Amino acid sequence: MDASPTPEPRPFWLAGRPATGSAQQTVTNPYDGRVVGVHSVPTPEQVEQAVAAAHAVRHKAAALPIHVRAEALAHVARRLAERAEEFARLISAENGKPIFWARGEVNRAISTTRFAAEEARRFSGEVMRLDTDPAAQGRLAYITRVPHGPVLAITPFNFPLNLVVHKVAPAIAVGAPVIVKPAPATPLSALALGEILAETDLPEGIFSVLPVPNEQAGQLVDDPRLPVISFTGSGPVGYSIMDRVPRKHVTLELGGNAAAVVLADADLDWAAQRIALFSNYQAGQSCIAVQRVIVEEPVADVFTEKLIAAVEALVTGDPADERTQVGPLISEAAAERVEQWVKEAVAAGARVLTGGTREGTTFAPTVLTDVPRDAKVACEEVFGPVMIVQRVASVDEAFAAVNDSKYGLQAGVFTRNLDIAFRANRELEVGGVVIGDVPSYRADQMPYGGVKQSGVGREGLRSAMHDLTYEKVMILTGLTL
Ligand code: SIN
Repeated sequence: MDASPTPEPRPFWLAGRPATGSAQQTVTNPYDGRVVGVHSVPTPEQVEQAVAAAHAVRHKAAALPIHVRAEALAHVARRLAERAEEFARLISAENGKPIFWARGEVNRAISTTRFAAEEARRFSGEVMRLDTDPAAQGRLAYITRVPHGPVLAITPFNFPLNLVVHKVAPAIAVGAPVIVKPAPATPLSALALGEILAETDLPEGIFSVLPVPNEQAGQLVDDPRLPVISFTGSGPVGYSIMDRVPRKHVTLELGGNAAAVVLADADLDWAAQRIALFSNYQAGQSCIAVQRVIVEEPVADVFTEKLIAAVEALVTGDPADERTQVGPLISEAAAERVEQWVKEAVAAGARVLTGGTREGTTFAPTVLTDVPRDAKVACEEVFGPVMIVQRVASVDEAFAAVNDSKYGLQAGVFTRNLDIAFRANRELEVGGVVIGDVPSYRADQMPYGGVKQSGVGREGLRSAMHDLTYEKVMILTGLTL
């Protein structure tokens, strides 16, 4: 798989087999607009076939021996490792992510799949004696977790492989069929993952990858044979899904405007380097990219100087270039929106410390200060390479500023003080607190998800496996225990 135009449209995956529909869709590179690939688009009848197959195989999938699930996942990990460079180039081409970060994403996807294989082997039940009262003498409960049912996985453009794996791998690990609806801008990595899944011994129907346009996703969302929806993407879309199917089990990984707090005792060089990089990685298109920098007054001047220097040292440009750290946004419309938000902030009194300019789909890494509290760049999710710096007089004020957000995904606190670290963990209203580093840190096995409007539920293999299943009790009677 290279990044040159594909003459034949790539098939999609219908119940584990390659299929073609009646329409085609072209995928282009956000950096230079060149064609990366063409794929076939499923018809509504083919979507129906995939759902019917997932529904039909659900009992067989749930009864699959653990070693079959774990071996299938181990196969995916091995094949991703063998095809790592090919996947990295595909991710970089369809998403515009610099090749350096794309390689990182593939490595993470390999780990994610390995963790899923390991967790599958640990995914067991428990027994509970019930003869704690005379009435239950001779009774025993056998408790297992079983899938809610087939999963609809709706995945975003910003991690076209790893965030697909984060939904597919735990589904396979618990024995749940899964239908992936990848982001229309970046479906090719998910389709390539389908090639690897098709090499496994998993039963037919357990996976489909259906690159349907967003406008056609309602057919999948509404279908009662898909009782679980795992969505990663924007808040408005996520909540519209939840409101549309309130009786389904819906997990939402939504956005954020992640804060990094820099306290006076922090290692300022380290903090500046990390914040500069992780505000701008993937052009800021990560839900946990640093957007708000909250710095204690005594170190604010010296830290801001270091931060600006670190931001200006970042290499922006062609994502295929090995040296590039910051690439384009996913589309010109996305870059124009970011530009508009920066202009609005400046019109309301903000100062641009560096950046603020756009060239096509690329927006320069930008640092703003004196930003009014109600400016969009402060209170909404920018999803672009823009951070705002806010000075505070104390730890109290810093933590209040972090919590002054409708979002709550992760926060970073640069401090060496353990008491303050534990206090941050107690007081910050987020799903994860990172001490001594940026909020953008994510290990794929750890629970990941938000509070407030950053979402509902958790990913991370063990957490996702819990989320996709419910506890079921079988009571054995008449036993001599
Ligand atoms: C996200 O943008 O929500 C995912 C971040 C990550 O997996 O690193």
